[in-house]
Amino acid sequence: MAPDEAVFKGKRVLVTGGLGFIGSNLCLRLVKWGAKVTVVDNMMPRLGGNLFNVKEVADQVKINFSDVRDSHSMDYLVKDQEYIFHLAGQVNHVDSIRNPIQDLDINCRGTLVLLESCRKYNREAKIIFSGTRGEYGSSVTLPVGEDHPTNPKGIYAVTNLTAEKMVLVYHDVHKIPGTCLRITNTYGPRHQMAHDEYGVLNWFIRKAIDNEEIPVFGDGRILRDFLYVDDLVDCFLQVAACDRAYGEVFNVGTGVPINFIDLAKKIVEIAGTGKVAFTEFTRERKEVEPGDYYTDISKIKRVVGWAPRTDLEQGLRKTIDFYRKHKKEYWQ
Ligand SMILES: NC(=O)c1ccc[n+]([C@@H]2O[C@H](COP(=O)([O-])OP(=O)(O)OC[C@H]3O[C@@H](n4cnc5c(N)ncnc54)[C@H](O)[C@@H]3O)[C@@H](O)[C@H]2O)c1
Repeated sequence: MAPDEAVFKGKRVLVTGGLGFIGSNLCLRLVKWGAKVTVVDNMMPRLGGNLFNVKEVADQVKINFSDVRDSHSMDYLVKDQEYIFHLAGQVNHVDSIRNPIQDLDINCRGTLVLLESCRKYNREAKIIFSGTRGEYGSSVTLPVGEDHPTNPKGIYAVTNLTAEKMVLVYHDVHKIPGTCLRITNTYGPRHQMAHDEYGVLNWFIRKAIDNEEIPVFGDGRILRDFLYVDDLVDCFLQVAACDRAYGEVFNVGTGVPINFIDLAKKIVEIAGTGKVAFTEFTRERKEVEPGDYYTDISKIKRVVGWAPRTDLEQGLRKTIDFYRKHKKEYWQ
């Protein structure tokens, strides 16, 4: 089922992290559907903030270059918003290991500042929080459902889990409607392509486009499900529009696993360039690698009616085409 675009027409929507990968794709759709969109983004170095991401709607979104930890800005920005999509986060896995205090500050304090601004100035706003599959840690059973134990392996996942709990506490205690997504690896247009510190599938695509070796870690047999960003945008909008979603946590993925060797081979086949190669895990990466993961999406299908619509091959084709066309905006 496609989300209902009429729901967002004329609605006031705040997107934190709206210049990044997922946030910008979401903004483009919201603008297309007639929402009044405000973005807050601090353009943090080495993350995905890129003005080119929203170039085609630049005159239709308000961009506030601010930090979600700045309570003065947030007090002002949350006022009168009907929906708040909270995507601003420290998402760089390698930086998270090098500087975990920064993760704590952005992901936890940033979320709490946003929630406090809503408590003070706008308890009606509906908050949609973007968490990660990493909150589960190593899988005990597959596919992973929402009742799977949460034993995060890295601080990035710990701070996401904590932020998710904060959103749910404000839902229960202060009656500020909040819903939380635990999202699998997502790929597609508008991701940062400058380095390999997060966003593995997009990095593989860069290597293929540049006709270089695609570095598959270890034996390449680890399983993941990869979600195309347009399907994730559908998901955000469908969840936001569903009253029964508030107060709940949902897994978001495809549920269709593939291992990294087969993924790399598929990219080479579609791109017609690049070559699969094996490399050792770095020590840092090995320590936080949770192993096989793929998503049980039965809850979100049942409650919200969302399911992905793009298969991996279609998604890869669209993504490769996009970066071939816009390489210069993303390669540095
Ligand atoms: N991409 C994925 O595969 C994936 C998977 C699971 C969850 N998520 C979650 O989705 C969200 C968005 O991720 P993304 O992939 O779009 O990353 P991204 O790096 O492309 O976007 C993050 C954006 O947040 C902004 N930002 C960071 N700190 C900020 C702050 N303190 N104040 C204001 N803006 C700030 C950055 O400048 C950037 O534009 C994150 O919360 C991430 O944890 C992403």
